[in-house]
Amino acid sequence: MFRKILRHIIPKVVKKEIKSLINSLVLYPNACISTAIRFVSWNQVSGDYLEFGCYSGDSFCYAYNMFQSTRQDVAQLLNQEDKHAFASDKPRFFAFDSFEGLP
Ligand SMILES: C[S@@+](CC[C@H](N)C(=O)[O-])C[C@H]1O[C@@H](n2cnc3c(N)ncnc32)[C@H](O)[C@@H]1O
Repeated sequence: MFRKILRHIIPKVVKKEIKSLINSLVLYPNACISTAIRFVSWNQVSGDYLEFGCYSGDSFCYAYNMFQSTRQDVAQLLNQEDKHAFASDKPRFFAFDSFEGLP
């Protein structure tokens, strides 16, 4: 019954968006990390990467590799002077975990 009501209330386009969001979270679980790294790299935001709850390090390694490749792409578009400044402003990577599971 509840589903039938929802089917009439929620517009098709909203359903499509929700489906697409769920798909991207399921198929690309690191999409948020990827978006954040692209943003800070292309906008040359300084700072370190700290991950709280790294567990075995899967998302941490993903973030590290993503940083390396995105920074390379950014560096290619910079002039020699800016490239040097950008290269010397490398983020440091820190991973933390309580190893006690989710609270
Ligand atoms: C789902 S796992 C993270 C998986 C990891 N990000 C990955 O993609 O490989 C969540 C981790 O967060 C840790 N955790 C939960 N609460 C925490 C807290 N308050 N401080 C630090 N680590 C925490 C747990 O011990 C667990 O290892």
